[in-house]
Amino acid sequence: MDYKKTLKVAKGIFWVGYNDEKNGLHSNPYLIIEGEEALLIDGGSRPDFSTVMSKILQTGINPDQIVRLIYQHYDPDLVGSVSNFESIIHNSELEVISQKQNNIFIQHYSTVSKLRCINKLGKSWGFRTGRRLRFINTPYAHSPGSFMSYDEETKTLFSSDIFGSYGLDWELYLEISETCKTCTTHNNCPEGYNSCFLPGIIKFHQVIMTSKEALKYALDQVSELDVDLIAPQHGSLIKGKESIRFIIEKLYEINDVGIDGVHNKGENHIW
Ligand SMILES: [Fe+2]
Ligand SMILES: [Fe+2]
Repeated sequence: MDYKKTLKVAKGIFWVGYNDEKNGLHSNPYLIIEGEEALLIDGGSRPDFSTVMSKILQTGINPDQIVRLIYQHYDPDLVGSVSNFESIIHNSELEVISQKQNNIFIQHYSTVSKLRCINKLGKSWGFRTGRRLRFINTPYAHSPGSFMSYDEETKTLFSSDIFGSYGLDWELYLEISETCKTCTTHNNCPEGYNSCFLPGIIKFHQVIMTSKEALKYALDQVSELDVDLIAPQHGSLIKGKESIRFIIEKLYEINDVGIDGVHNKGENHIW
C-alpha cells in the first residue's frame, strides 16, 4: 500500500493521514465525499495540516466543498489545524460539529465557524443526498465530551481514540489471523511479524482512557452497532465483524485502565 497516496477505505470515505515512521502516535483524519459535499473527521494537528490538505486535494475535491468539520474530542492532535481549514475553506455553510463539553475548548482554536453540539443536532447529521452520520456519546473515553460517528451507509464507525494504538510498526489495516485469535503470547509472534499488535492497543487504552468503567460504557455502545469497519484516530483500521469482535473482547479484558491502574499499580505503570 502506498501511504503517500490518499486511500479509499469505504464508499466515499478516504484516509487522509500519513505514515509517521518516527512517531508511535500518528493520527488518522478521514474525509467523506458525498455528492457535492464533503466532511472532515478529526482533521489533525497544525504540523499535520499541509500533509492532510494535500491528501484532501488528491481526491479531486475543491476545499470549498467541505461543509462540516467533525471533532470527536478536543485534543490538539485532531483539532490543532482547525483555523488552517477555516482559512482555506471558503464556504458560508461551514460549521464545526462536536459536543458541548468539547466546544468549551475548541472555541480557543476556532474563531470563525459556528460550533454545533451533537446532542442539540439530535445525535445525527445528514448530507443533502440523505446519507447520515449518527453520533454516539462515549463520556470519559477519554474526554467528558468524547463521541464516535457512525456512517449508516457503509457501517463504518469513526471511533476516535477508542481502538487506538501506540507503535512504530504501523499498517493501515490490522491483520488478525486465525493464529492470532488463539495465541497466548505477545512475544515471538508465531506468524513471524516483528511485533504483536495487542500490547500497543492495551497500553494505549490503559494510558489514554480514564477508567475501565468508562471504557466498558464505550464498548457497550459499540457492541450495539452493526459495524463492518472501525476507523480509529490512531493506530490501524479494523475490518470485518469477526476481527472487530475479537478486539472488542480484548478491550473488555483490559485492567488497570486510567485511574484504576494508578490505584492498583501506582503511577509508574503508566509512565
Ligand atoms: Fe485524545
Ligand atoms: Fe487521539
